[in-house]
Amino acid sequence: MTERERRDALSAGRPEMDLAGEPALGSIVGEEEVEAAVRTLRASMSPEVGFRTPGSEAEPFEAELAAHFGTRFAVTVNSAGAGLDLAMRALDLQPGDEVICPSINFKAAPMAIVGQGGTWVPCEVDPRTLQADPSDVERRITPRTRAILPVHMNGLSAPMDDLLEIAERHPHPVHGPLKVIGDAARACGGAYRGALIGKKGWMTVFSFHTQKNMTTLGEGGAITTDDAAAADRIVKLRFFGGSDGWGSSCLMTNVQAAVGRVQLRRLPAMIEARRRIAAERTSLLSSCPELTLPYEPEDCRHSYYLYTILVPKSWAGTGRDRLCAMLRDDYRVNTVIANPPVHSTVPFLKAHVGNVHLPISEEVGARLFCPPIHPGMSDHDNRYISAAILDAVDRLRAVLGP
Ligand SMILES: Cc1ncc(COP(=O)(O)O)c(C=O)c1O
Repeated sequence: MTERERRDALSAGRPEMDLAGEPALGSIVGEEEVEAAVRTLRASMSPEVGFRTPGSEAEPFEAELAAHFGTRFAVTVNSAGAGLDLAMRALDLQPGDEVICPSINFKAAPMAIVGQGGTWVPCEVDPRTLQADPSDVERRITPRTRAILPVHMNGLSAPMDDLLEIAERHPHPVHGPLKVIGDAARACGGAYRGALIGKKGWMTVFSFHTQKNMTTLGEGGAITTDDAAAADRIVKLRFFGGSDGWGSSCLMTNVQAAVGRVQLRRLPAMIEARRRIAAERTSLLSSCPELTLPYEPEDCRHSYYLYTILVPKSWAGTGRDRLCAMLRDDYRVNTVIANPPVHSTVPFLKAHVGNVHLPISEEVGARLFCPPIHPGMSDHDNRYISAAILDAVDRLRAVLGP
C-alpha cells in the first residue's frame, strides 16, 4: 500500500462495522437460517414430537457433515469443549497418562486433558505457522504418552502427516500407536494435503460457537472420525453412557442442527471470502518490514479464522501492547491476542504443569496480535484496517526504533 493509498483509506472514514478482534459472529447468517429454525421450531410444537434430540434434523446434519469432511462418521455435540472432554474420555486415561498439546492455544484442549484425569504435556509451536512443532512433540514423548492433541490454530492445519508418523513410531507399550486428535474449533473449512481438516487423525473436534467459521445458533460442535468404535463410544458418552458406562448429556438441539445444515452449505463461500480478504490484506501490508504476516504452507489451505500478525522481537510485550492500544484508541481498530501460551497465563493450568518454560511459545505469545477478519467485511473496511496498522507501525517505529 503506498503512502497515498494509505492516506486515502484513512480519510475515507473508519470501518462500517465496529468489529471486535475476534468478531462476536464469525459467520454470515441470513433468512435461510431463520426459515430453517422457524420450520423446525413449528414442527417441534406438537406434544407428539417436542424438542427431542437427536431429532429429525440431527441425522441428516451428521450425514452431511461426514460427506463434507470425507469421514465415515460425524457426531454432533453441544460444544467443542464438551467434544474435547468426550474425546479425552474415550482414551480412558489412567493417572499419570500424558497427552501432548501446544501451549499457544485456547485453554479448552488442555482443560479437557486434565479434566479426564490426564497429565497435560505442553509443547512448542513453529513460530511461522503457530502449529505444534513435530520435533518438539517427539522430544516430549515418554512411555506414559497416550495421545497428541494438535490444535489447528487460528484456522490453519497442524502438520498432521508428520504428527501421525511420529505417533506410529512411538507406540504406547500397552495401547499401541499414539492417538492423534485434532482440535479444529477454529479451523472448520481449512484443508491439508487435498483433504479438509477433519479427515486426518483418530478424531477431530469442531466448534460451531457463535464466533467460529460456522455456527449452530451460538453453541455446538461435532466430532469426525473414520473409526466406527470411536464414533460409537462418542455417541454413548454424549448421552449418559448408553446402556453401560459413564456419560453425560452433550446433545445438540434439533433447531440447531437445522440451522447447521444451512451454515454447512454456506461454509465454502464464507471460507473463500475470508481467504480473499486475507490475501488482499497480506498484499496491502507486505511492504512493512516490521510485520510478520500469516504464513500458508504450500500443502495447506488456511481458513483464516484469525489473521495473525507478529511484531518484531524487539517490540515483544510492551511494544505490541502499545501498537494494539494505538489501533484501538487512535483508529478504532480492535485486536485480540490469540493466544498467549496457556501454561503461563491460565492459573489453573499453570498450577497443573508447574515450573515449565517454553521459550518459543512465550516469545511468540508476546509478539502476536489479530486484527478483525470476517467473511462479510467490505473492501473499504479491510483497506482501512490495513492502513491503520501501517500508520500505527510507522508512528511506533519513530518511538521504539525498528
Ligand atoms: C481452539 C479452541 N478449542 C476449543 C474451543 C471451545 O469451543 P466451544 O466454545 O465450542 O466449546 C475454542 C473456543 O473458543 C477454541 O478456540
